Amino acid sequence: MALQVTGASFSLLRNSRTRRSIRAVASEESVTIQTGGEDKVKLGGSDLKVTKLGIGAWSWGDTSYWNNFEWDDRKLKAAKTAFDTSIDSGITFFDTAEVYGSKFSFGAVNSETLLGRFIKERKQKDPGVEVAVATKFAALPWRLGRGSVISALKDSLDRLNLSSVELYQLHWPGLWQNEDYIDGLADAVEQGLVKAVGVSNYSEKRLRAAYKQLKSRGIPLASNQVNYSLIYRLPEENGVKATCDELGITLIAYSPIAQGALTGKYTPTNPPTGPRGRIYTPEFLTELQPLVNRIKDIGQSYNKTPTQVVLNWLVSQENVVPIPGAKNAEQAKEFAGAIGWKLTNDEIAELRSLASKTKPVMGFPVEKL
Ligand SMILES: NC(=O)c1ccc[n+]([C@@H]2O[C@H](COP(=O)([O-])OP(=O)(O)OC[C@H]3O[C@@H](n4cnc5c(N)ncnc54)[C@H](OP(=O)(O)O)[C@@H]3O)[C@@H](O)[C@H]2O)c1
Repeated sequence: MALQVTGASFSLLRNSRTRRSIRAVASEESVTIQTGGEDKVKLGGSDLKVTKLGIGAWSWGDTSYWNNFEWDDRKLKAAKTAFDTSIDSGITFFDTAEVYGSKFSFGAVNSETLLGRFIKERKQKDPGVEVAVATKFAALPWRLGRGSVISALKDSLDRLNLSSVELYQLHWPGLWQNEDYIDGLADAVEQGLVKAVGVSNYSEKRLRAAYKQLKSRGIPLASNQVNYSLIYRLPEENGVKATCDELGITLIAYSPIAQGALTGKYTPTNPPTGPRGRIYTPEFLTELQPLVNRIKDIGQSYNKTPTQVVLNWLVSQENVVPIPGAKNAEQAKEFAGAIGWKLTNDEIAELRSLASKTKPVMGFPVEKL
């Protein structure tokens, strides 16, 4: 039933006279329609299907970058409602990492531990719930050999309280040992510890090499997780997006709302606090204003928020799964409304062109290694 309504909405969308009212219908229906299998996408050449948008769990328990360096019960409750609301809204793909909520950071709680707890509590109430977990291996210089991947993965599984995860990714290219790490990923698939494997912050050259090496073992490279947003389009410029499309690797877009800078919430007079404030300065936010204003205008014509517009822009690039970070139920709910509808090609092009007038912020230097 829900799918029929959606289908009708999409065919009517082509009629510009009815555009506005029908889009409002599509936006309300989007929460319902995402739960169907058709609204999932295959991750690269793997058999794994995930929702078209996932949720990033970096901030859960973190005290090194997020949460004003403090974690408390109120933030924990908010993170749990973010998790539950995502599931209720049909978003079932969650991204974490062994280093999120690092034990080296004072007062932090590991994000994998929290995610594992949320999944367990949810399963007690709702045993049939399906959750796809992606986590990551930290390529630290003292980690040697392919066995180090398996042993880190087993530690992650312990924290998550799971016997396997859907996606295991190399968080960044190591200084050395990269071929061993790729072999470790393939071993993890063969041992049934993961359904699919991916990399993160990989350049075109590294991506091609990893793809080839895995292929020789009969295993597809499912994904490359990189920084990608309307104002950080390096993957379009450095060959990473084109290579993902060519080889059938899904691009998982991290920091897709530019850590809040593209949502309209932060302005030159209300910049973000903490480490983000050093990146998204009042000067930068002033420069961003014309783009944010246009995003707001376009959003209004669809009855959508700026956050939903910028996430839809990413999904519209095809072969892209954004993973915005949600700290609370409201943010999670908003993300769910980013899919199930589509910006026009003209709007997509106009936003890219406006965004190109903004100087990009500095990314994670490892992606250039
Ligand atoms: N592989 C890697 O190297 C790598 C690197 C970075 C991130 N990641 C992954 O990508 C995920 C997302 O990236 P990210 O957390 O860096 O950035 P992001 O998703 O672009 O931004 C998330 C932040 O934006 C703010 N926000 C969320 N929803 C909002 C809304 N509706 N309106 C206004 N503000 C909103 C929240 O912070 P406030 O509420 O405090 O403003 C939230 O913490 C991470 O959780 C992680 O899983 C991976």
